[in-house]
Amino acid sequence: MRQMLSIQGSWSNRWIFILAAMGSSVGLGNIWLFPVMTGQHGGGAFILLYLSCMLLVAVPIMMAEVVIGRHARQNPVNAIEDAAVSAGASRHWRLVGALAIFCGFLIFSYYSVVAGWVLHYLVAMIFGQLNGLGVDQTSRFFNKLLADSQMLLLWHSLFVLLVIWVLAQRVERGLDRAMRFLMPVLFLMLFMLLGFALTTGEFVSATEYLFNFHLQDIGWDAVLIALGHSFFTLALGVGVIMAYSAYMGKSDSIAPTVIAIGVFDTLVALLIGLVVVTVVMAAQMELRAGPGLLFVTLPVAFLQLPGGQVFGFLFFLLAAVAALTSAISLLEPATAWVTERFKWSRARAVLLLGALAWGLGVAALYSLGQLSDLKILGVSIFDLIDITTTILFLPLGGIAVAVLAGWVLDKELLTAELALSNPAMAALWLWLLRFVAPAAVGLIFVMNLYNALYS
Ligand code: PHE
Repeated sequence: MRQMLSIQGSWSNRWIFILAAMGSSVGLGNIWLFPVMTGQHGGGAFILLYLSCMLLVAVPIMMAEVVIGRHARQNPVNAIEDAAVSAGASRHWRLVGALAIFCGFLIFSYYSVVAGWVLHYLVAMIFGQLNGLGVDQTSRFFNKLLADSQMLLLWHSLFVLLVIWVLAQRVERGLDRAMRFLMPVLFLMLFMLLGFALTTGEFVSATEYLFNFHLQDIGWDAVLIALGHSFFTLALGVGVIMAYSAYMGKSDSIAPTVIAIGVFDTLVALLIGLVVVTVVMAAQMELRAGPGLLFVTLPVAFLQLPGGQVFGFLFFLLAAVAALTSAISLLEPATAWVTERFKWSRARAVLLLGALAWGLGVAALYSLGQLSDLKILGVSIFDLIDITTTILFLPLGGIAVAVLAGWVLDKELLTAELALSNPAMAALWLWLLRFVAPAAVGLIFVMNLYNALYS
């Protein structure tokens, strides 16, 4: 007999689920990738393309994850097994859940190393260690940090402990309260930073960079980038949304909730983008995507502007909060699984998992510094975890969820859980899941693999 409530607890209301899902989706990807990819691939045209990818591919998959997670009210492994068995399919489908939570766990291990870099910059901003440095000197500061394994170990450990502390408690006391506090703080900082951006005189140029419609810049690469990013940013394919949905109320309607998450995430990404682009333009610097944007260009740019030290600090605080809420979500599916599988307390489960992920993170951070000569398949441990998760596991998880929900699971069960008032919408959802989503995510998978192997 299935339990009616998750043993981990539940969200205090529908909005907290939305906040938590947004916390998971707004992360470092929104800061160092989205603004530049938008500007370089067609501005407003790219935003439209991105929204279409979201609606046609990411949202249907997210709805499937929510349906499966909420129906079973258990961790992704059990939830998938439960749904597969009640449709008369093999219980081995649960391996899809296992792969997803393992992938989340792996991403967590290196994500918390990067979050450690953010914490280091936060302190450097407070003490003015970066004041007056140019691009070359700030680059040197960053490279010195990457080589300083002891320092990284300290920040990485602190960050992992913070995540363990939140996850060790019941959902109501831990996750729920953390999201209730952290997300409004994140929005508040974002609005303050927007206010600062407005004073720099470059806000209008930044708006033009992000929103002007350049249809001619849309090519195949833009489609692939938009698809891949919508997937990564919405935290799909790693069991996060499925795990969070287990704590959702039975009467909350799924489709509007998921669409709201997609729309809010895009809005936040655009607002962060406006801050990033304005500040870089005001300092007359070049915009390039990736870690260099956050750890070299942005500190130099902020510190050239009046009030830059305060707002630069605020920006790194925003990045730290965004990284924290994403990291918390990455470790939750594994925590829920260990708790339910071994009947352990959440505290015990997360201590064990946190310690394992911490160890893996330590290997990853040493592979950037003292052990940089150690290569596996030609890359560092850090890059190996990054590549195998984002290029291999994440899209595979997404395809598997789409195929499972579209082709294997019981249609009555799915549509009853989804409770759409319009049957045509339910049919459209199933059609997108069966054909469009697997084909689109399959395409990203093949292209990413090709690019990784041959370029
Ligand atoms: N969405 C997060 C980001 O943009 C990363 C993430 C991926 C978080 C998968 C959870 C799950 O940085």
